[in-house]
Amino acid sequence: MTPEQIKQRTAIIVESMQFLPGGLLPILHRLQDQLGYVPEESVPVVAKALNLSRAEVHGVISFYHHFRRTPPGRRTLFVCRSEACQSVGGRALEQHAKERLGIDWHETTTDGSVTLEPIYCLGNCACAPAVMLDEQVVGRVTSGRLDALIDDLSATD
Ligand code: FES
Repeated sequence: MTPEQIKQRTAIIVESMQFLPGGLLPILHRLQDQLGYVPEESVPVVAKALNLSRAEVHGVISFYHHFRRTPPGRRTLFVCRSEACQSVGGRALEQHAKERLGIDWHETTTDGSVTLEPIYCLGNCACAPAVMLDEQVVGRVTSGRLDALIDDLSATD
């Protein structure tokens, strides 16, 4: 999508939502739902429509980790950081995921294949530690199983 197309898509979203009370957050959510992230080109469009400064819009985007500023990878790997998972090795699994992919939370591998995101309980606590690959929840994940999942991704990419 070109910068001009991003501005046009942003303007359409903003137009339909700018008069909602507290419209900034819903607009940012809609942008991310539709574009996969909140592009830099969207910021001035949103700021102007809501009569805010660009800095104010940037401030909200950076306050909430949920908002991405770069396009996500083709797949997203969510690693559960909640208590049940942490009590059975989740922390080591997080570390392994970061080292194996060579990225930190909210980052995407250089080949654009995987984005790594934390998540807080997948409702799969009985089978902790758990991860989710896009929509698929996987339980009892060891470092070895995580490696196999990532290898499968590379094979099917
Ligand atoms: S705490 Fe990880 S799935 Fe519930």
